[in-house]
Amino acid sequence: MKNLSKVFLYAGCISILAHCTPATKPEPGSPEHRAQITEAVDDDGLANADANQGDWLTNGKNYREDRFSALNQISKTTVDNLGLAWSINLGTTRGIEATPLVVDGIMYVSGPWSVVYAIDVRKGEILWIFDPEVPGGYAEKACCDVVNRGVALYKGHVYVGSLDGRLIAINAATGELAWEVLTVDQEKAYTITGAPRVVKGKVIIGNGGADYGVRGYVTAYDALTGELAWRFYTVPGNPADGFESTAMEEAAKTWTGEWWKFGGGGTAWDAMAYDPELNLVYIGVGNGSPWNRDIRSPEGGDNLYLSSIVALDADHGGLKWHYQTTPGETWDYTATQQIILADLEVDGVVRKVLMQAPKNGFFYVIDRTNGEFISGEPYVYVNWAIGIDQATGRPIESEFSRYPEMNAAIAPGPAGGHGWQAMAYNPETGLVYIPARELGFIYGQPADFSFVDDGRTWHTGTQVNPSLKVHKDSLAIGGYGKLIAWDPVNRQEVWSVKHASPWNAGVLATRELVFQGNAAGDLVAYDAQNGKKLWSYALETGIIAPPVTYEVDGIQYLTVAVGWGGVLGLWMKFTESIHPGTIYTFKLGGEAAMPDYPDPPSPELVALDFEASPDQLQHGADLYLRYCSACHGGGDKPSGGIMPDLPYSSGETFEIFHKIVGEGLYLQKGMPNFGDRLAEQDITDIKNYIGSIARKLRDADP
Ligand code: HEC
Repeated sequence: MKNLSKVFLYAGCISILAHCTPATKPEPGSPEHRAQITEAVDDDGLANADANQGDWLTNGKNYREDRFSALNQISKTTVDNLGLAWSINLGTTRGIEATPLVVDGIMYVSGPWSVVYAIDVRKGEILWIFDPEVPGGYAEKACCDVVNRGVALYKGHVYVGSLDGRLIAINAATGELAWEVLTVDQEKAYTITGAPRVVKGKVIIGNGGADYGVRGYVTAYDALTGELAWRFYTVPGNPADGFESTAMEEAAKTWTGEWWKFGGGGTAWDAMAYDPELNLVYIGVGNGSPWNRDIRSPEGGDNLYLSSIVALDADHGGLKWHYQTTPGETWDYTATQQIILADLEVDGVVRKVLMQAPKNGFFYVIDRTNGEFISGEPYVYVNWAIGIDQATGRPIESEFSRYPEMNAAIAPGPAGGHGWQAMAYNPETGLVYIPARELGFIYGQPADFSFVDDGRTWHTGTQVNPSLKVHKDSLAIGGYGKLIAWDPVNRQEVWSVKHASPWNAGVLATRELVFQGNAAGDLVAYDAQNGKKLWSYALETGIIAPPVTYEVDGIQYLTVAVGWGGVLGLWMKFTESIHPGTIYTFKLGGEAAMPDYPDPPSPELVALDFEASPDQLQHGADLYLRYCSACHGGGDKPSGGIMPDLPYSSGETFEIFHKIVGEGLYLQKGMPNFGDRLAEQDITDIKNYIGSIARKLRDADP
């Protein structure tokens, strides 16, 4: 119908030439154009996103979430000629993890603090900015930086989940608020960092916060009105309150003790995919709260649906099936990592599968019609389990894996073999490209554990206990990154590239190339077949977000949003300096220059005059470790991520130290107010401890 009416309009134009205004073709970039092209993003448009390779309409590019583009102007033979078309300095200072969406040359991308930008690709200019004005105090509830992984588009709206737990619909043409709903209890430590997805007229949004003690769920809202359609809890609440569904009643049988007091966890903070034929939405579910099952569910149990993939009916959110990757999870092994749908020939039969490389280090191929386990093979070094039982689909755990009465070096660690950084699947090479890492962790049973239910205290329930022996495994610790090309049918690595840092960017696959940015600040194109580096561009700041590609007026572009940060980026960096958040867009023959960012002043250690007893300094060190190190890095080593490295802060800063730490002077910048938790003397002890570190560092290197 739509096309037909267009034809009639044109016909009308021709017959009454004199009065003909080009109503069907507004000026590209104009509000009319923005309205027209985004109104056209409807259920059909999303279900057939790949029919138009020029656009990038949803987070994973299509409902299969494969992040594969068939565009091939930028190819193995031409990539040499890829250059910068334009860049836009966003002026932000925190991590950027977002996948930009693009429709007919209009880009929608989110930055730190859930701010949304509309950009005209043809001109390289910002059209509008929507700032949801998230209160700075929410930074403290965000374990892993004030990031946002992207927006959704539907019928003239742009949707973003804000860090403080709102789902916001913005008019895509004007940047004005259309509606917003609160999706969480703001007294608790919920945050939203994941991208919404739109399925059959409903926007689906999850949340994060499992490490602080919350109960996870996903909610679907009517995309046009914001009315709540359905909610699926991922873990059961207190049975005394009754169960929301049979799924919760079943799940409760796999929990013990009084888990609900700790929230239980299972937040669904990133992965979603949708199969329109099966009408199933697939959700990746997160870790337990706290991580340590011995605390959360002391008599054991699988603790459904932690670390699971759940398949929900798109219309009412009912559970169709689940597959749990890590029964009785106790290591922060989320299954929130990206889910990709594909049809693969396995043992001579074409199967409808989904694929996931969750944190636990196994690459899974699951039958997406019924949740049946097909295969699970380690894609990085794994020692918590020796494999997956083919008959039951359950892991075979190592005897030390639950760190009973010992500290144990376990691989992967809480950062996972693979995190939120998106992988990509090229159906032509048959390979999945995984931005992986080798990075273990030493887990242990804490000497004591207390749960602080203040909505902002991080609880893992695991801690090295000096009075217990250590189970060593020299291979487990690792500490580097890897781009792995994985064959999901033959269950093996085909090629891989090693990165110096464990914290790199998500991936884009095109027919012949794989693009990935890295911590060293380089955006790199690899040969999809063999991993040979074909092109690289120095963006000078560590890259974590995945690139996208699209076509406007016959030109293929490649865009990556760069802003160093995320959990490891808070206190680590691998480049000389960290530039402000910047959108970089490339095309063949692009000749734009890199933006001219001034070098930061060279850091100077502060010289503080103070007197403090060894006990006071030790007290300051303990408090620093407990309250400050998660953001500012380990006390006695320079950190140097996006957070200020406090021994290098200025003398003036130390003059207002009490105001910053105890009165919330920098709250709006994301620096918490510790006034209700730390006494004046505590703050003085922390300050003097930092002064003593500066002194030590200066003595070591005068
Ligand atoms: C949730 C993360 C977070 C935690 C936890 C945190 N800070 Fe901060 N801190 C910040 C941010 C963000 C800034 C502001 C950065 C900027 O200037 O943009 C900051 C700034 C500061 C500054 C000013 C530094 C400068 O050079 O301007 C001081 C001092 C400081 N923090 C001390 C502390 C102390 C002491 C603790 C522990 C009691 C602490 N912070 C815990 C995030 C945090």
